[in-house]
Amino acid sequence: MGTTDWTQLWLNYHRVYEGDGAWNIALEGFSDTDVVISNAICEFRKAIELLTGEQVSDSPEAGKKALTLKIAKVASISAEGYSIKGSTNGIDLSASDANGVLYGVFAILRLIACGKRADEVAETASPSNPLRMMNHWDNMDGSIERGYSGNSFFFENEEIIINDRTRDYARFMASIGINGIVINNVNVKGAASYLITDRYFDKVKELSDIFEGYGIKLYMSLNFASPIEIGGMDTCDPLDRSVISWWEKKIKEVYDNLPHLGGFLVKADSEGRPGPFTYGRTQADGANMLADVIAPYGGIIIWRCFVYNCTQDWRDTKTDRARAGYDYFKDLDGAYHDNVILQIKNGPMDFQIREPVSPLLGGLTKTNQMLEVQAAQEYTGHQIDLCYLIPLFKEVLDFHTHCNEEKDTVADIVSGRTMGNNLGGMSAVINTGNDMNWTGDDLAAANTYGFGRLSFNTELTAEEIAREWIAQTLNLPKKEEDILCSMLLRSREIYERYTSPLGIGWMVTPNGHYGPSVDGYEYSRWGTYHRADHLGIGVDRTDRGTGYAQQYYPENAKLYNDPNTCPEELLLFFHHIPYTWKLKTGKTLIQHIYDSHFQGEEEARGLAADWDSLKDAVPEEVYKRVKERFDLQLDNAREWRDQVNSYFYRKCGIPDEKGRTIY
Ligand code: GCU
Repeated sequence: MGTTDWTQLWLNYHRVYEGDGAWNIALEGFSDTDVVISNAICEFRKAIELLTGEQVSDSPEAGKKALTLKIAKVASISAEGYSIKGSTNGIDLSASDANGVLYGVFAILRLIACGKRADEVAETASPSNPLRMMNHWDNMDGSIERGYSGNSFFFENEEIIINDRTRDYARFMASIGINGIVINNVNVKGAASYLITDRYFDKVKELSDIFEGYGIKLYMSLNFASPIEIGGMDTCDPLDRSVISWWEKKIKEVYDNLPHLGGFLVKADSEGRPGPFTYGRTQADGANMLADVIAPYGGIIIWRCFVYNCTQDWRDTKTDRARAGYDYFKDLDGAYHDNVILQIKNGPMDFQIREPVSPLLGGLTKTNQMLEVQAAQEYTGHQIDLCYLIPLFKEVLDFHTHCNEEKDTVADIVSGRTMGNNLGGMSAVINTGNDMNWTGDDLAAANTYGFGRLSFNTELTAEEIAREWIAQTLNLPKKEEDILCSMLLRSREIYERYTSPLGIGWMVTPNGHYGPSVDGYEYSRWGTYHRADHLGIGVDRTDRGTGYAQQYYPENAKLYNDPNTCPEELLLFFHHIPYTWKLKTGKTLIQHIYDSHFQGEEEARGLAADWDSLKDAVPEEVYKRVKERFDLQLDNAREWRDQVNSYFYRKCGIPDEKGRTIY
């Protein structure tokens, strides 16, 4: 079990073998005056000693075998890529740039922590995606929107915090290949609007410099109404000449102070945020204006497609929030300038436990696009319930959009392989906070780790990632590793079973989004997401209903349009189905709802029991922390099971075939 420093996440560096060498470092074509290189060396120096007992030293003790970490510049290796190869003399690391060196060093340390000896390490890799980003939804008062791990470690009382944890955080992110971080919430309010003023430049610069040392660019979320909020103007119309001049001056000032800034993330015209619609302008008008202003500085504008009218009246059955992204953005495909990226949530709604892939991904063919997922467990258990999300992210990446004969998966599209564009990638709403263990639930760190690794290498499997994370974090014996790995891999479907069935989504407590409320929806007194009546449940999104299914390319549109071919896990997302409908298992829909809720609750108990079986294998404090969460998860699972089953039993009056208690 060893001693464990819970502040170090997967950079926990357990002793994995007793080495008998002494390391020296040789640089060819790189210099340690480059801060990224010197940070990489520093990480190697510290970690190799913890992992193997071997030191990096200019004057090794007599009798120690000389080992060299040779870091060489090889121009033919692609940007940020690396090649590492161990031998009895040490390890050769080649890369063409400093980020490649940093990632190569972290790869060496990962492989050793996962059980290889230094002479056995061998890996060649280059990132699947140009941009691999974390989006913080941190507010400047220290709170975090949808944060389940304490408060922000960037902000407190409208000040920026910089301490040892800042550097640790940058190390963690670099170790999983993250190269961009948005530090503040997309809902830019209050003091956050002033991040682009001299009130904060010095501190943001300090933060940006720390990030830069780990190959990470700092980004900020931007208030589209800044000309009004901080500029004292009476408009923020993106086509107004005086507004454009205001931005030109502002962005110059920003880059004079923050020369390494990556650019801005913008949420406009959504959930009360200002945007170009107010002035009768399009999303492209808004994004392009900012993009043109920032272009001379090499900056980019990441424009979110989470644009919908949250006050829509759901009594009208043709109204469909799922349609909104495509309806607003598809017609403007090709109108966006080269340094704009559209950031698209994985599904058309909002990070539910199961949704179809957004039809905008690949639906756009002439626009840079980026996939947004949520590592923060807003709708997936608040980092109380176990929910390893990498299988979900993988499903999205592997989805065939049919936008092309080949190279048509989401992974192909956002990486740039489909359209040959240089800008694109993946973003996650991050799940960290200032809790000592960073993610509240220790096991939720698997999602933080997993997102980074997956964005760097979309070919990795959810299981490979889980095993890497377990080995580095807990260094468990094989049998215990297998148990924990299986828990992680089963957890998403278990959560799905006891919450909302077959893609229907929500049924969750309004605003808070934890625990059941079958009819709950914060924005409307009238609407329910599930549209259940006494005969059936689900939303008709076919060509006879809202027409949403027709937003896909024909192959998928056809599949989704017919309840007989629609993937069953999405049946209620696309169709209004009678309770007596027979599923492929031969069960009726209502029996499936009952059974899956009983099963999910039982399986949640199984997860908790599995965790108990690990009691002696994991450090006591981790055992206790996670156990407390499982206790809460079991309450939650029971509550979901009973509320959902009773609700539908009362709606349809059809009893459970197995005669179990439904209230
Ligand atoms: C969800 C979430 C909000 C968030 C929004 C967004 O609706 O509940 O808190 O602001 O997504 O992605 O912008």
